[in-house]
Amino acid sequence: MIIAWVLFAIVIGSVLFHIFNPWWVTPLASNWQAMDDTLTITVVITGLFFVAINLFVVYALLRFRHREGNPHAQAEPDNKKLERWLIAGTSVGVAALLAPGLLVYAKYVNEPHDALMLEVLSQQWQWHYRLPGPDGKLGASDARFFSATNPFGLDPQDPRGQDDLLVMGNEVHLPLGKPVVVVLRSHDVLHDFFVPQFRARMNTVPGQVSRFWFTPTVPGRYEALCAQLCGVGHPDMRGFVVVEEPAKYAAWQQELVSFAVASRPAAAPSVAASPLVEKGRQLADARGCMACHTIDGSPRVGPTWKGLYGKSETMADGSTEKVDEAYLRGFILDPQAKKVKGFPPVMPKLPLSDEEVSALVAYIQTLGEAPAGEQKAQR
Ligand code: CUA
Repeated sequence: MIIAWVLFAIVIGSVLFHIFNPWWVTPLASNWQAMDDTLTITVVITGLFFVAINLFVVYALLRFRHREGNPHAQAEPDNKKLERWLIAGTSVGVAALLAPGLLVYAKYVNEPHDALMLEVLSQQWQWHYRLPGPDGKLGASDARFFSATNPFGLDPQDPRGQDDLLVMGNEVHLPLGKPVVVVLRSHDVLHDFFVPQFRARMNTVPGQVSRFWFTPTVPGRYEALCAQLCGVGHPDMRGFVVVEEPAKYAAWQQELVSFAVASRPAAAPSVAASPLVEKGRQLADARGCMACHTIDGSPRVGPTWKGLYGKSETMADGSTEKVDEAYLRGFILDPQAKKVKGFPPVMPKLPLSDEEVSALVAYIQTLGEAPAGEQKAQR
């Protein structure tokens, strides 16, 4: 008897929860009404079955309760009529669950022709972005072109790629109301670009290009998450998509550097133009170092940079090494060569130029507590 009432209360509670829960009417930030409709259909169908099955159990518990005068339940293993009804009912239910999803997915990957292209490049544990230049086309890329001066692996011979705009940071901007085709690549392992507010996500698969499209319709700064477990830095693999008015977007786009400029050795003066330490700070942000390291002393996957420079580090074999410029330089260039006690050997080898390594080392140096004698060595 109690079980029957508990089940009844669960059914009523579940239905009321869905009607009154605050997430039900979350405003959308894009045009993916169809996705929400599909979710609603799924919830309604599974909800109806949930209510019907549980109420049937409640009925059976009350009707066939063991008590004088109550009828005995009869097993009916060969009730053809009932079986036909159950088969037909579940078939229609399963088809109704699957069919809308297929329609929505078809819409999700059938791109409009006038869409803006946005390439998302994923890498442990950071996001980079590429936008086409004035020609509106993205240049070809291939794994064999990856290098310190070509972190996107673009084909230097492809004229379509020369004007491509590169975003090395983890934040990208998009113009409001314009359809965007998102093209996804991975530099290393399986990742998944997921912006919950857009109802949009897609795996990035090494050696493969995946795509989907959507139209951002509400301005805002939305967080992009990695939705595939991709290693120790996975929870910190976050990016941002800023949706803004076309004029603001154009201004942001103006600041971007094209592939032709970025890959020219002559790009070096722009590096030298900003002070080395500031350059190092920007690199640490742009290259995803902050996914694993902190500058405030708190521990993460890797050692904090606060006070790192100048201290003695204990290695896995018990020996100690002084953290100086040579140590840091060697570690950044070949992270697997040394094993530090207490830290997993998971630091990825980043394609960095000599100048960029110097900038990072200079930045880390300013965060250290180098003894007075070494202050002179600072740049
Ligand atoms: Cu990339 Cu998880």
